[in-house]
Amino acid sequence: MQPTSTDPITILAIESSCDETSCAISRDGVILSNIIAGQAVHEQYGGVVPELASRAHLQHIVPVVDAALRQAGCKLPDLNAIAFTQSPGLIGSLLVGSQFAKSLALALNIPLIAVHHMQAHVLANLIPNSAAATPRPGAAAALPHPGASPTPSHSGGPALPSFPFLCLTVSGGHTQIVLCHSPLKMEVIGETLDDAAGEAFDKSAKLLGLPYPGGPLIDKYAHSGNPARFPLPEPQIPGLNFSFSGLKTAILYFLQDHTAKDPDFITANLADICASIQGRIVSILLNKLKKAVRQTGVKDLCIAGGVSANSGLRTAFRNMGVTEGWNTFIPPFEYCTDNAAMIAITGHYKYLNGDFAPLSVSASARQVW
Ligand code: KG4
Ligand code: ZN
Repeated sequence: MQPTSTDPITILAIESSCDETSCAISRDGVILSNIIAGQAVHEQYGGVVPELASRAHLQHIVPVVDAALRQAGCKLPDLNAIAFTQSPGLIGSLLVGSQFAKSLALALNIPLIAVHHMQAHVLANLIPNSAAATPRPGAAAALPHPGASPTPSHSGGPALPSFPFLCLTVSGGHTQIVLCHSPLKMEVIGETLDDAAGEAFDKSAKLLGLPYPGGPLIDKYAHSGNPARFPLPEPQIPGLNFSFSGLKTAILYFLQDHTAKDPDFITANLADICASIQGRIVSILLNKLKKAVRQTGVKDLCIAGGVSANSGLRTAFRNMGVTEGWNTFIPPFEYCTDNAAMIAITGHYKYLNGDFAPLSVSASARQVW
């Protein structure tokens, strides 16, 4: 359906880049539904098995889309565009979502919007909590509408970040500091040279004998641990880039040394080990962010991506915001790990910009943005 200038813009968005099949419906940028189906099949293998992920997406996609439409109270003719994750991710997984999105756009004769997954993680910070909010480009800071209470997950300053803002995007495959000039104009000013922050969590968890994905488990055990108990090295990487592979090796040797002396070392000290690992990853991330603020002068700061669900990072980020005088913004948990709501909000801004993709567009495992 083609809207007139006053009609609401309703977008169906699909995310299938890794092991979550998700569909969201947005109306004028407000999320009406956000259904996420995880894939437990990978747990027994200690990591995501790409072929199994593609098959699970095939099984999940129709029921997930159906549930998202029903929860939003929407019918297919209400839709104005279909947005989907085009890149980056596992190619088989991306293909399921992109082929589904293309077929739906073709059948409904409505525009198709290709979304970059990492850009969408950043824009999760622009998802308004207010049902009456209507994001327009450049107007993010004005949201939510007058009278709405501030979003509890956002601390300090206005309820949504003002441009330009900095976003620390930390996921299973990426670690980036992004300078955002507008919803669709972003610049990566720092990134990891090797492992991502999520990999640092997951690989450390594996060394501790914890199941995949280990990040949330390290978070859980760290709650009752002492982060100062086992000092771990902070890599000295110039500029705004990160490196986590040295930390992983240091953790491996640290565990090997201690378990050689005491085979029960890990079980006896799990909380303190997890708190020490988490504390070091968080300090590496936030020290670079502080450097980025000094370099750019930008004072509106966001975090995004799966690792932004980490309670240690959320707390330390908020506290650093208070001591450094930043306005800090953190998406609600459901918009941190992979979800289609972030694809919908990105699709919304792209729709307003007339940024549509041809049906010949193809999914891509890697794509710079
Ligand atoms: O953004 P995401 O869902 O998927 C990617 O785009 O990669 O991020 C997944 C990553 C995994 O490495 C997972 O262990 C990590 O986010 N993660 C966490 C937490 N929740 C998810 N890491 C630490 N603490 C958490 N609470
Ligand atoms: Zn992601």
